[in-house]
Amino acid sequence: VTRLQLETRRRSAASAAEHLANATTPLIRDAWYVVATSEEVTREPRGRDVMETSVVFYRGRDGNPIVLQNRCAHRSFPLAQGTVEDDTLRCRYHGLRYDREGRCVEIPMQSHVPAALRVRAYPVVERPPLVWVWFGEAASDPVQVPHPSWLGAPGWDRYAGYLEIAGSYVHLHENLLDLSHLSFLHATTFGTPEYARAPVEVAVDGSDIQAWRHVTCELPDIYAVPLGSQFISPGLHVNTGHLKNLELATAAIATVRVAQVITPASRERTHYWFVGHRDFALGRPDIDDFMQRAQYAAFAEDQFAIEEIARLERIERACEFSEAHLPSDAPGIAMRRRLKKLADRETVRGAT
Ligand code: FES
Ligand SMILES: [Fe+2]
Repeated sequence: VTRLQLETRRRSAASAAEHLANATTPLIRDAWYVVATSEEVTREPRGRDVMETSVVFYRGRDGNPIVLQNRCAHRSFPLAQGTVEDDTLRCRYHGLRYDREGRCVEIPMQSHVPAALRVRAYPVVERPPLVWVWFGEAASDPVQVPHPSWLGAPGWDRYAGYLEIAGSYVHLHENLLDLSHLSFLHATTFGTPEYARAPVEVAVDGSDIQAWRHVTCELPDIYAVPLGSQFISPGLHVNTGHLKNLELATAAIATVRVAQVITPASRERTHYWFVGHRDFALGRPDIDDFMQRAQYAAFAEDQFAIEEIARLERIERACEFSEAHLPSDAPGIAMRRRLKKLADRETVRGAT
């Protein structure tokens, strides 16, 4: 290979990479993201860093969640340290009080309250067991909340969990779209060797990116591992497993659906909730516990991988590096191209 060929290859890899989101791509704000589970939102204020901002959430008297900017407009003290009074939130530093729209309604040291004094209030939609929030500048549309109809619906038994990952949400989405890693990263938890070899069907239709693996194997102890991966939005990914007995050639005997709820705290940190649903062995809390434990064990392996990737990217920040792409990366590439397009659109709009 000549030097010129090498240089040409390097350039074409670099220009292809330009169209793919990575860990440094600006976050996509015009999307709904989960900030908390329903049970986390109570009459006690609670703070959380999400989307490169800090929010405080609590429940109003009517039971609806309220989500405000956590940073007091006076001296930046976190409002999550304050107290809820009716629907309002009082800062614990100098006592300024804000209503559910974020407007300051009381300054204890004076009678006049400037109309412009406020913190940001975020549009919020609760679809139990999740609370979705809109961080974008564009108008929010509750119809666009990417909450599938089965999520939290009756007829399923559920288990749930949460991890905070010191890595990029882009890498987490990509991890979930390529289940060939089950055979290796999860070799001792829920992977079997058949996964990496299984034929995969990829369907990319606009924002809908799906990868289905048809795996023929003895089921590992946990249950059927997810077979389908679907990118729904920057904040949601769904894995679906249909278990079939191939000898009987019948329809699926059981289905497992896992909502993988992904909210960037920043470009370097990611909130990761999972809500597993199953339609078999209903009313068996021991099975919920078993599946939850197994899922935590396996997701800790994903967490390890994503955090190690983030560590190497940090250490080698100054080095030139271009990823090797394989045909099995097609769904991940489609997802990253989509995220990059969305991010670029917001950057252009922000600049005009
Ligand atoms: S910082 Fe909140 S009232 Fe002063
Ligand atoms: Fe995994």
